[in-house]
This record gives sequence, C-alpha cells and structure tokens, in this order.
Amino acid sequence: MRTVQGAALDGLRARVRALGAEAPDRRTPPAAPTFGARLRGFVSTGTPRASAAALRALKARRGDGPALVRTRSGRTFLVVLDPLDLHRFYAEPVSLLAADPPEKCRGLGPEEPAGIGCSRGELRAQRRRINEEALAAGVPVHPSCGAFLAAVAEEAPHLTATRVLDLVRARHAVHRAARRIVLGDAAASDEELGGWLRQLRGGRARAARTVYGRTLARIQEYAAHADDGTLVGRATRRSDPAGALDPLRQAHHWLLAMDAVPGTLLRTLLLLGAHPAEQDTAAAEATRGGTDGELPRLRACVRESLRLFPVVPDLIRVTRAETEWRGVRYPAGTSVLLPAAFLQRDPERVPAAHVFVPGRWKNPDADRDIRIAPFSHGGGRCPGDQLGLMITAAFCAEVLRGHRLAGARPVLDPVGPLPATLDPGTIRLTLTRR
Ligand code: HEM
Repeated sequence: MRTVQGAALDGLRARVRALGAEAPDRRTPPAAPTFGARLRGFVSTGTPRASAAALRALKARRGDGPALVRTRSGRTFLVVLDPLDLHRFYAEPVSLLAADPPEKCRGLGPEEPAGIGCSRGELRAQRRRINEEALAAGVPVHPSCGAFLAAVAEEAPHLTATRVLDLVRARHAVHRAARRIVLGDAAASDEELGGWLRQLRGGRARAARTVYGRTLARIQEYAAHADDGTLVGRATRRSDPAGALDPLRQAHHWLLAMDAVPGTLLRTLLLLGAHPAEQDTAAAEATRGGTDGELPRLRACVRESLRLFPVVPDLIRVTRAETEWRGVRYPAGTSVLLPAAFLQRDPERVPAAHVFVPGRWKNPDADRDIRIAPFSHGGGRCPGDQLGLMITAAFCAEVLRGHRLAGARPVLDPVGPLPATLDPGTIRLTLTRR
C-alpha cells in the first residue's frame, strides 16, 4: 500500500525530474570551479560565520542554483540553496546520497566498522533500525524516560554546586548522566571511559585503534549487566549481539553523540538569561514539573537555541552514482553540501531570523520545515532528536527550578541580532537561589 509520504516523495521527484527536463541542455559540470577558489573560509574551518559571508557572496553572484565551490583545503562541494534542491537532498535515499563518513571512521580501519555513521548499504539500513528502536526515534517521551530523568535529576546538582556554571561543569554532569542512560548506573563515575571517548573524538588514527578496542571492551562489560531501561540493554535485547548489528558499536556512537548536549544546554540557558520573560515562563513550567519529561516550552527554547546555533552547521552527502542537478551532470563521488546554519538564519526565508523566538516552535509543522534543520530531515535525520531534546530540556528545568540566571557572559542583546556563533567554552552563567 502506498503511503501519503511515499506519494509526496514521488511528487517531489517528479518536480525535480521536470526541472531537469526543462533545462536547455544536459551539460557536464565545469572542470575547474574557479568561483569557489575565492571563497576564503568556506566550510573548511567549520565556522558558520565565515561560511555565511561566503554563501552571501555566492548567492549574490549565482542566485540559488546549485554551485560548485572549492574550500581552502582543496575539497570541492556542490552547494544547494534552492528549496527544491533542499527537498531533494532530504528525499533521496541514502543509497544515492550517502552520509559522509567522519574522519574518525577512517582511523578505525575497515576491519572495525563503527556505528551507523561509518556503515554502508543493507548493513547501514539494519543499524539504522536498531538506532531508531533503541533511541525511540520520533517519540517525544522515551519509554525509559523514568530512569533517564532520574539520572538527570541526580546529576544536575553538579551544575549548581557553585555560583558559576560553565562548560566544564556542564560536561561533567551531562557525561555522567549519559553513561548512566547508555550503559547503566554503574558507569556513572567511569572517568577513564570518558577520557577514552575524548581521545576518540579527537580522532588521531593510530592511537584511535587501540583506544577504540579498550572502549568497546569496557562497554561490553557494562552491557553484560545492563537492564532494559538502558539504551545498550534495549539494543541488545532487540538484536543479535554476536552479529553484524553489534549494539556495542552503536552504544559507542551514542556516548559520542551525547556531546551535543552540554553546549546546547549552556547556550539555551544563556539565551533564557538574556530574555527574562522567557526565563520566567520556562521556570514556571519547570516548577509545575511533571514526571513525563515533555516540558514543551523548554523544548521549544532548546530547539530555538539549536536553530540559532546548530551543532551540525553543514550537512554533507556523497553521491553514489551520477546525478543531475538543474540539467548539469555530476559524477558519482560528488560531495553535496547543505549549509543548514546559513539557511536557518537567512532573513529572506526565516522571519526574525537573528532573534530568539521560541514561540515559532508552537506550530506542529515547524519540526518538518526544511528551511530549519537542527536535526536534519529524511533518511539521515538524527534518530536521537527527541531523546536529545528531552535530556537537554530536563537539565534546563533542574537548573531553573531552584535558581535564577542572574548574570551571564557573553552579554547578549535581547532585541538586536544575535551573534552568528556562540562558543560554549566562553559562556559563564551566574546563578542565584530562587
Ligand atoms: C542536541 C542534541 C543533538 C543534536 C543537535 C543532534 C544532531 C544531529 C544531526 C544534525 C544529525 C544528522 C547529520 C546529517 O544529516 O548528516 C545527527 C545524526 C545522528 N545522531 Fe544526533 N543530535 C543530537 C543528539 C543525539 C543523541 C542524544 C543521540 C543518541 C543517543 C544521537 C544519535 C545520532 C545518530 C545515531 C546519528 C546518525 C544517524 C544516521 O546516520 O542515520 N544524536 N544528529
């Protein structure tokens, strides 16, 4: 039976095909993209500010059509900006537009395929299913929310133990909670595991292989005793532990993915500190409580903080076959880049683009709006989106329930345009008791 979503995707593909058919001729891409060579700072540094300036220049000269640009490091990307191309970016199957494996996969070698992000083909599809089931993708309140929220509540005092909250404290509290959520309470104080994960994030290839082995062995020890309320426990019960689906490698990926939370937590609190009315509303919601972790207002604040300061500023795919964009053919292996950070701050497409407006997330369709993609969309969308939102909002609630954000660095202008980037390492929040 055809689904509504399937029909919509077919419609989209038909429109994309029609665009190609209307093109006057089917050309091959220019051999040497010269325009991109001038885009200093584009993408390669990962700094959206540099990227935004370059993209504005690109738009001014070339409009919204896809354009090849070359980064300072010499890598070439096909940049997509037009809404139809964005739809296509998200709608194409991952077998055609595949995720770009991160550096750390390369360091680990083919004999040690890691999590979903390093997998291909049918194996990737199976690992994706394991991820979606264990993380309860798309389900606002995770089935294990009771245990997860208890872990957050018990670790949150690390955030408020002193008057000043910074990234070191946020990381400490979040990583303790993350180890409990993924592996069980016994892992809370395992700073050695935390250190290995830090090294793997850094990704030095030769050292990474040894550290990766130790990390997996340690995860396995916890997994042997993990109950169904943990993520690794859920994954183990649902897959063949000896088989290729390997929940241990997925658990490793989840521990790394949780690193998105501390910075998001600090940025959200900083924004609330600069918007006292929003802070009062969020604090009232936190005080009313509820044990289900829904916290809709706080989740809206977290989403809005991610719109303004996304964790993944540029989404990248690599084509697995020849593709045609607006009548121009590009060979298999072309890297396609969707500049999410730029698009979700583009005043031509997003109202009040540079201002903190959590109310925009009240609209139930906001989460599917492809102009805004803090968790991406389509087959590569973050399967931990709701879990990440739940954990971040719950930590915010724990802070706001007993404390007021009385001062903060850097100082944000509540009405003026917000800065393009916000390094969480520079954030200092001053807390006073309510
Ligand atoms: C604030 C929190 C988070 C943010 C902003 C975030 C963002 C993202 C984004 C943008 C992607 C897709 C990248 C792309 O399309 O190329 C992604 C992928 C992924 N995320 Fe998250 N994430 C968060 C939390 C989490 C958590 C808590 C988990 C698991 C415990 C998780 C697991 C994953 C996995 C497994 C993928 C790979 C999906 C695939 O390749 O199919 N994320 N995340």
